Amino acid sequence: MSAMEQDAASGADTDILLQPYTLNDKLTFKNRVVMAPMTRCVNDDDLAPTPAMVEYYAKRANAGMIVSEAIIVHPRAQGYPNVPGIFTDKQIEGWRKVVDAVHANGGIIFAQLWHTGRIATAAFIPGGEAPLAPSALRAPGRVRRAEGEVPHDLPDEMTIEQIHEMAEIYAQAAENAMKAGFDGVEIHGANGYLIDQFLHYDPNRRTDEYGGTPENMARFCLEVVDAVCKRVDSELVGLRLSPAGYAQMEEDERDGEVFKYLLPELDKRNLAYVHGSIFVDQVTYDYLDGERITGFIRKYYKGNTIGVGSYTPETAAPLIDNTFDMIAIGRLYLTNADLVGKLERGEELNPIDDAATLNPE
Ligand SMILES: Cc1cc2nc3c(=O)[nH]c(=O)nc-3n(C[C@H](O)[C@H](O)[C@H](O)COP(=O)(O)O)c2cc1C
Repeated sequence: MSAMEQDAASGADTDILLQPYTLNDKLTFKNRVVMAPMTRCVNDDDLAPTPAMVEYYAKRANAGMIVSEAIIVHPRAQGYPNVPGIFTDKQIEGWRKVVDAVHANGGIIFAQLWHTGRIATAAFIPGGEAPLAPSALRAPGRVRRAEGEVPHDLPDEMTIEQIHEMAEIYAQAAENAMKAGFDGVEIHGANGYLIDQFLHYDPNRRTDEYGGTPENMARFCLEVVDAVCKRVDSELVGLRLSPAGYAQMEEDERDGEVFKYLLPELDKRNLAYVHGSIFVDQVTYDYLDGERITGFIRKYYKGNTIGVGSYTPETAAPLIDNTFDMIAIGRLYLTNADLVGKLERGEELNPIDDAATLNPE
């Protein structure tokens, strides 16, 4: 084996990922590797974590931080079967077991707070109410259900009162997460779900103070952040955003302006971090100033950032500090529970395997 091969094998290239990172007065991560949030739809029928999930998270506790799979904040937020919630005592107790096991292994874990907006499904909503969204527009595409592929449900346009109530629903969920023992919360503002629907012109056609201009389009997101930060120290609150993610919506060239307004506003709020969200961060976008998503976030947000999107430890390491402060790894974490241990030992990682979502290592 040549010296270079030995270096690669010993993980010398990725050493920076193993260094601790201090985000603020409250949080120091023991390394720069974040386990990305991953929905697996394996909670029990009361939407509470199972013993197998306790083990799954505990095995990954040597990550610098774990972001939990997305956790719905309200029954009307549910778009998929057997996702977890954090609005009943049973769910809170279930999460406490997960969090305690992660802490016992020396880890840090944030709860990702989720409302799917128009991706919610009346079939999951008690009483069969319609989903809620910024505008009464059905999401494109079809959704798989027991009866086959069906169109998404037509959502109700949220009233101003429902918008204000919604910010409080996120805040209550954040408080519940802290009660369960989580180290902090990550507000899910990405991937075409409720907050992201407000941030994009295609799903948000409102003409009141929640639509039509960058300031108005960003208002709901900022109100949620502010409501959560009234109950949880802002230094323990992160936000996930996908400026060019375009999940379940059409592109609009005005969307970039919304994020150029939003990111500096977030900077004023002393948050733990902003976390990008995209499957492949190797593409640049005209409306993001010709940047990749992670580079765009760094340009407009000066606080801590987490990058993500088809990175390996080797491709992420050179971007640490310049493009992002920490790297989130998703699918490789399903096949490599001891990802950080393998990096430390210079061991090769198992490849991504789609079947691992239900059968993780
Ligand atoms: C099975 C699966 C479930 C996911 N669930 C979530 C989720 O609950 N919340 C979220 O923000 N992103 C979710 N994502 C996106 C990942 O967090 C991550 O951004 C994406 O997988 C790209 O990272 P990777 O290339 O390292 O896998 C999911 C991805 C996968 C593969």
